[in-house]
Amino acid sequence: MEADWNGIADWYAELVRGGSAMHQFSRDILLNALPDRMPGFDVLDVGCGEGIVSRALATAGARVVGIDPTHTLIAHAEAAERAHPVGVAYRVDDGATLHTVADGSVDGVTAALSLNNIADLDAALKSVRRVLRPGGFLAFTVPHPCFDAPGTESISTPSGVRRLAGDYFVEGLWRSAHPQSVRRAGNYHRTISTYLTAVLVHGFALQRFEEPAPSAAVRAEAPHRLGLPPFLLVSATLS
Ligand SMILES: C[S@@+](CC[C@H](N)C(=O)[O-])C[C@H]1O[C@@H](n2cnc3c(N)ncnc32)[C@H](O)[C@@H]1O
Repeated sequence: MEADWNGIADWYAELVRGGSAMHQFSRDILLNALPDRMPGFDVLDVGCGEGIVSRALATAGARVVGIDPTHTLIAHAEAAERAHPVGVAYRVDDGATLHTVADGSVDGVTAALSLNNIADLDAALKSVRRVLRPGGFLAFTVPHPCFDAPGTESISTPSGVRRLAGDYFVEGLWRSAHPQSVRRAGNYHRTISTYLTAVLVHGFALQRFEEPAPSAAVRAEAPHRLGLPPFLLVSATLS
């Protein structure tokens, strides 16, 4: 049977809480791209998973709501909030619609490694725009589309494990065959230009477009990432 997010949720929560360098790196580059004045901001964390980014936002002073359609991950996030309260409210919701979020109710939206799990990017950005206050920000990370396209493999070479690029132009749903890959639950590949065009078409002004070099911890955890950016980071404001 094919994996889905509820099916891998316990595994994923354990991976993140076990100190995954990739997830800490994704969280850190995203937070680094946010405005300094987080205290007092209302921030919505779309596709919050077990809460790694929501907790960091709340610790930085924001009022945070984390949403995710995966019930099991929301249960993990709520359990962490009960164990070590930082003031995050979690809700089951879909990033494509954001049914539980009122129009013009937040100053910022974060989406760490989640837009690539949403089938309809236009619907997601339309919903983000709807819930943002004027001048609000969107900041997101996605697996770097050049190095996580369908069919991408890691291969051994005389100079170490290297990434063999996959089918960059084949957009849409794909699943990794690797039993330890997050992407075995399925995710949606898009080119960089698809992401950037969608951000601009939905009325955002681009603020940052970054491809951060992997940290030493990421290189140690994932040697095939050596010399390659693991993630794309985009931040934009409502114009
Ligand atoms: C790779 S995880 C990232 C979770 C978290 N942001 C983190 O950094 O660990 C991808 C997340 O996207 C969520 N997701 C899947 N479909 C979604 C949708 N339609 N709307 C919002 N999130 C979705 C999954 O449940 C999962 O929590």
